[in-house]
Amino acid sequence: MDPPANHPETHQPAAPTAGAVTGLRGEPEQPRLLGRSRAYTLANLPERLRQWHAPRINRWERLWVTGGSLAIEYLDASGTIGAELALGENRWFAPGTRWRVVHMAPDSHFELEIHADAKGQAEAPQPLRSTLLEEALSVAVADVPALAALLHALPLGERRVVHARFDLGAWSGTATGAQTLFWHPLAAAPGCFTVLVARSDRLFDLRAYLGRDHAVIEAALGGALASDANYDAWLRATLERHLQIEEELIFPAYLAAGGNEAWVKGLKDEHAYLRQYLCELDQPISRRRFLRLLDGHDEKEERVIYPDVVAHVGARAAALLDAAIAWPVPGATRVP
Ligand SMILES: [Fe+2]
Ligand SMILES: [Fe+2]
Repeated sequence: MDPPANHPETHQPAAPTAGAVTGLRGEPEQPRLLGRSRAYTLANLPERLRQWHAPRINRWERLWVTGGSLAIEYLDASGTIGAELALGENRWFAPGTRWRVVHMAPDSHFELEIHADAKGQAEAPQPLRSTLLEEALSVAVADVPALAALLHALPLGERRVVHARFDLGAWSGTATGAQTLFWHPLAAAPGCFTVLVARSDRLFDLRAYLGRDHAVIEAALGGALASDANYDAWLRATLERHLQIEEELIFPAYLAAGGNEAWVKGLKDEHAYLRQYLCELDQPISRRRFLRLLDGHDEKEERVIYPDVVAHVGARAAALLDAAIAWPVPGATRVP
């Protein structure tokens, strides 16, 4: 969302006085109200609020239900979570938290507040994104049957960082038609690989997978900026894999289906800058540029590009999703 100073929908009515519901994902330590939206109704609900979107770096959103009730979804570390909010309830969305409106009755309305966290650091990694990796249980598996058994038994909503002691190319079970398993390879070398897996409680689509891949990259970034060598390697591998998926799989399919060539050119130019800044991540200026560019790039893709990709490729999206999940991470060896 734009800063409220530039936001045409922002005004400053009195805050609702009904009791607050504590946000599931924390609250800013020192919120500073920057602006408040108009009342959104079913008739004037912007399309972007129906789509996955997220507050920017150092921006928190607080949703107040001012009439009727509202059904929302947000992307948690373990998958998509649904929530029903009633009149007077509110919910905080932390920087980077993807959420969307899934249902509202014709007589319902709500408002959005935009806050900055006075204690937040715009140049710091987002702590909520970092937990995606930091709080995942680590497990080791020796062979393909052990990995298959682990994935089969993985409970809904749970995730693991799996260290496998065999070639990534030996695993052929990642691409399936029924997508409830998020699979994000973090690193690979001959004879071993590491992958983040999570079992979703519902089927997910191409947009959800690519958006979650952004979250994995940003989680790795959090550790990398804290000088963790493992996270630094994961950042470089997951980002390169993601850029390759877009450049070699998604964008060609999108353009072949009549997609916007100028948009793709702009995105590929930004990819080049991301690669350049990543090489200079130890330099403060490049680090700042990388953080800002990645944040805006990911948001633009999730809000504008991926919906347009899905609209253009139609039924091909399912095959693209399979191929994206099966895409190897740099360093992986392929078994012919
Ligand atoms: Fe991209
Ligand atoms: Fe992307």
